[in-house]
Amino acid sequence: MFGRIARRYDRLNRIMSLGMDGRWRQLAAASAKPDGSLALDIGTGTGDFAVELTKRGARQIVGADFSPEMLTAARAKLAANGVTNASWTLADALHLPFREGTFDCVTNAFVLRNLADLKAGLTEMARVLQPGGRLVCLDMTQPPPGIVGALYKLYFYRLLPPIAGVLSGDRAAYRYLPNSLVGFPDSASLAELLAAIGLAEVQVRKLAGGTVAMHTAVKPPAEGPS
Ligand SMILES: C[S@@+](CC[C@H](N)C(=O)[O-])C[C@H]1O[C@@H](n2cnc3c(N)ncnc32)[C@H](O)[C@@H]1O
Repeated sequence: MFGRIARRYDRLNRIMSLGMDGRWRQLAAASAKPDGSLALDIGTGTGDFAVELTKRGARQIVGADFSPEMLTAARAKLAANGVTNASWTLADALHLPFREGTFDCVTNAFVLRNLADLKAGLTEMARVLQPGGRLVCLDMTQPPPGIVGALYKLYFYRLLPPIAGVLSGDRAAYRYLPNSLVGFPDSASLAELLAAIGLAEVQVRKLAGGTVAMHTAVKPPAEGPS
């Protein structure tokens, strides 16, 4: 499905987020503190997050995705931006082909909702992070109660799928979008899950009126022999 929408994905993102998704990625990339780091962006898609990591001084970026079409788009975008320190890996987030403790920071944007096993995916991300390294997760979240939440639900569940379906030419893909949020944990539960898999300093920042959440966490130092 992601392969089918890769060519129109960026334009649809701008429209669906009302132009705000770029700013959300900028904030999330800054939270990863990538300056001088070896960074892994999981579910990198067309590479927008990878671009933000390079702007903030990442030494080397690895973009991983299980869609070859998305990686083709990412490769072209970063080359067009003159980025030479990015490489691309065709991989499933649930089985990352990297050794434990490889990366200084691991990021993902709008990926977690899609994982078949959220806990397994987060555990994989924590595994490849080095002690002291940062994990940053950016994704939609359960909307707040009240008028903002009600309006958001109207937009997200009723208006968006048909509009995005027509604009993308792929109705099935954008019927999937609201379904991906059903059953996804709210921001507090996701924070608890990050702590439960052993990450520390878990913080949550809500964006877009509470409809998007950024989670940051740090892998604690390895315990020495007692
Ligand atoms: C909604 S897009 C987000 C792309 C990009 N991170 C962004 O900020 O625009 C989700 C991406 O995650 C990828 N993806 C979803 N599940 C995955 C998995 N299990 N392993 C690797 N990539 C995955 C999809 O192929 C797609 O490119």
